[in-house]
Amino acid sequence: MASPQISASEHAIIRPLTNPGATPEIRFKPGTRQPVGPAFWPRLLRGDVFRQNAASFLESNARQFGDLVYFETLGVRVLQFNHPVLVQEMLVRDAPHHHRNMVMQRSKMVLGEGLLTSEEPLHMRQRRMAAPAFHRQRIAAYGQVITHFTRQMTQGWADGSVVDVHAEMLLLALRIVGKTLFDTNVEQEVGKIAAAVEAFMGFMPLAFLPFPDLIVRLPLPAMRRIRDGRAGLDELIYRMIRERRADSTDRGDLLSMLLAAVDEEAPSAAPATTMTDQQVRDECLTVLLAGHETTANALSFALRLLADHPEIQEQLAAESRDVLGDRPATAEDYARLPLAERVFAEALRLYPPVWVTARTAAEAYEYRGISIAQGTILVAPQYAVHRDPRWWPDPDRFDPERFTTAAKAVRPRGAYFPFGAGNRQCIGEGLAWMEGVLALATIAQHWQLLPLAGDKGPIPIAPSISLRPHGPVRLRVQRRAIT
Ligand code: HEM
Repeated sequence: MASPQISASEHAIIRPLTNPGATPEIRFKPGTRQPVGPAFWPRLLRGDVFRQNAASFLESNARQFGDLVYFETLGVRVLQFNHPVLVQEMLVRDAPHHHRNMVMQRSKMVLGEGLLTSEEPLHMRQRRMAAPAFHRQRIAAYGQVITHFTRQMTQGWADGSVVDVHAEMLLLALRIVGKTLFDTNVEQEVGKIAAAVEAFMGFMPLAFLPFPDLIVRLPLPAMRRIRDGRAGLDELIYRMIRERRADSTDRGDLLSMLLAAVDEEAPSAAPATTMTDQQVRDECLTVLLAGHETTANALSFALRLLADHPEIQEQLAAESRDVLGDRPATAEDYARLPLAERVFAEALRLYPPVWVTARTAAEAYEYRGISIAQGTILVAPQYAVHRDPRWWPDPDRFDPERFTTAAKAVRPRGAYFPFGAGNRQCIGEGLAWMEGVLALATIAQHWQLLPLAGDKGPIPIAPSISLRPHGPVRLRVQRRAIT
């Protein structure tokens, strides 16, 4: 694979479906055109209506009811797409029928009209303008930054000590996104951003509740922390914008590019072809939040999986040593680190940080003979599709060899979509692969990771806005002797 020119399509090569299960099978309730699905009351009794059970609930729906599942929760209609063909139809072909989901719509009150929350046509315009910051040459330039911060982090590890690698990965991903996208590397500033982001993330669970805008204004300490986090981030970002507008030097980061971006495809009648400060702020905040926790979660899961699979960890250490010796990895090494890439890919399969992709039907439409009502919630659950035994034999087993070129070639597109698909596909995907591969290779090059006694087995998960490890991920770290 050419180095940073990475896209989901390379990990989910399109093939005609020839294996069993190639054609989606939709089961209907007798005498209706309504797909089968779980009834509400038994779900309530099992606790499946609560978010902490949501990932396993969606997985059990897929196994029990098949490729398309319908259920209702307190009057809200939900259609769940579990087959690769249906996932593609939902995310790509039928995207014009959809809006962002409710959580994203409510998140506008804090994220504004950034890439995650905005609707067409604003979304496409913003996406065009932000795209250059994510081009492959830019990402290649970020390679050094990734390696530098990863090495700096591990230099703080004491040989033989126990480290919470999740806390470490959160800080690492924040440093990387801060530097690559906003050229911020002052340690004190990273600390401030980390604290503000953490407080601010407290808003996201509120987006599941009605009237989050009122709740966040309540005079409660938790709400004050969220408001302060938001104010702190706003203050920081607007200050950076002011400083950059005053000194127009191109610093080679996202902020410089957003400030300089001109929408060349805008119709000549459009009122403005550059971004306002508010738009730049919304995009900066969006990228900061979207690019930080997702990558950190993926890396934390990958490290714990490596600790649980010492034979794969040793192969990865050998690959890193053979390719890098003792020198720091660069973007040019990406193509020479195929096992690191497969390990990251397999971690994203088993523990996709975006574990479900949701939309709302903006209008009523017909779908495979089914009437989808306006307002129906449509979900494509990465967590369930990535563990479907039809595409992933022995699905719970960690096996990076599932991502060799030959293995990928026989899998349908839509069986693997950690970065989504269609017009809202992750814009940071190339950066995420670069971070994942270079950080894993750099850690394996110098460190051996060991699980703590009693920690083997499935990793406890906490599905929230993103799929996180439940609690800290503690591993013993041992320095490797370089030969
Ligand atoms: C392993 C890491 C990551 C994963 C698993 C991930 C996953 C995703 C997914 C699934 C979407 C699509 C959501 C949808 O369709 O509703 C998305 C969108 C997005 N991601 Fe990522 N992401 C990751 C890293 C990043 C990074 C590093 C950045 C930026 C630095 C980023 C920025 C964004 C943005 C701005 C969007 C919105 C794109 C749009 O709607 O046009 N992500 N991400």
